[in-house]
Amino acid sequence: MKILLFGKTGQVAKELCNRPNVTAIGRDKADFTEPQKIIEIVKSTDADIIINAVAYTSVDLAEEEFELANIINGTTVKELAKVSASRNIPFLHISTDYVFKGDGNLNWKTTDQTNPQNSYGKSKLIGESGILEAGGPHVILRTSWVFSSHGNNFVKTMLRLASNNNELSIVKDQIGGPTCAKDIANALWKIASDFYAGNGITGIYHFSGKPNSSWANFASEIFSQSQQDIKIKQILTKDFLTKAKRPLNSRLDCSSLRIDYGIKQPEWKKGLTNVLANLK
Ligand SMILES: NC(=O)c1ccc[n+]([C@@H]2O[C@H](COP(=O)([O-])OP(=O)(O)OC[C@H]3O[C@@H](n4cnc5c(N)ncnc54)[C@H](OP(=O)(O)O)[C@@H]3O)[C@@H](O)[C@H]2O)c1
Repeated sequence: MKILLFGKTGQVAKELCNRPNVTAIGRDKADFTEPQKIIEIVKSTDADIIINAVAYTSVDLAEEEFELANIINGTTVKELAKVSASRNIPFLHISTDYVFKGDGNLNWKTTDQTNPQNSYGKSKLIGESGILEAGGPHVILRTSWVFSSHGNNFVKTMLRLASNNNELSIVKDQIGGPTCAKDIANALWKIASDFYAGNGITGIYHFSGKPNSSWANFASEIFSQSQQDIKIKQILTKDFLTKAKRPLNSRLDCSSLRIDYGIKQPEWKKGLTNVLANLK
């Protein structure tokens, strides 16, 4: 199975790029602000599967740079999906819980109405729509709260803040599933293998770590596992102003991925243990 992976440096890309028969292409050769280059790469690839781990992920900055976010997460993804479909190459793409409004307290199903509340979520939804329109074999894997030992993420932010603070204010009313990047890579690998074997099922799927948690509880687990005595002041989203609106409810119903691909939700606390060990 030959895989063409867009992205080399991101959290998920790093977990995939060194696996056997993966050709990873970084920004130097495939800049997502230049869709034509991406199209040419796909036209000449001999890959069996294409995975896109590239995204504009600066959620707050996207409120200002929405045009750039729309190109990287929207227009180029649409072109990538179109050219992949024209060659009948399965296209695996990662999306986000931010495509939902984020209200209520039920787990979002893959069939629920999307209604993104910020520019990043809107740009990711443009990408999703482009993939559906392209009509080729594909999987859109929506995930949430990604962490790993590299890149920027909540775990690394907490560890950095803990080095100069005894007390931290952390939001308690946003609930979601923290997801280890390595677990996402493993899920994509299984999906890719199934497509390669002729058993891939096209569709939108959800994948997040379990159990659901608040950011405050996630922080508490990070400090407990890293044996740091940090007091957490639990605050509300309304008291923690950010440029981009964040969904309160990021719970994802991951059952269809288990049914169609046999992929179970990973326990994020185990993923956290591994990430903290790698960071030591
Ligand atoms: N992070 C989260 O909490 C989260 C939550 C839900 C869903 N997701 C989704 O999960 C996927 C993977 O996220 P991640 O956390 O691994 O992302 P990440 O660590 O922020 O990595 C983003 C990747 O995109 C590349 N990139 C950005 N702009 C580019 C451009 N113009 N041309 C080429 N490459 C470009 C970056 O390369 P450079 O190093 O060159 O910038 C980097 O490799 C994304 O689709 C994201 O939307 C993430």
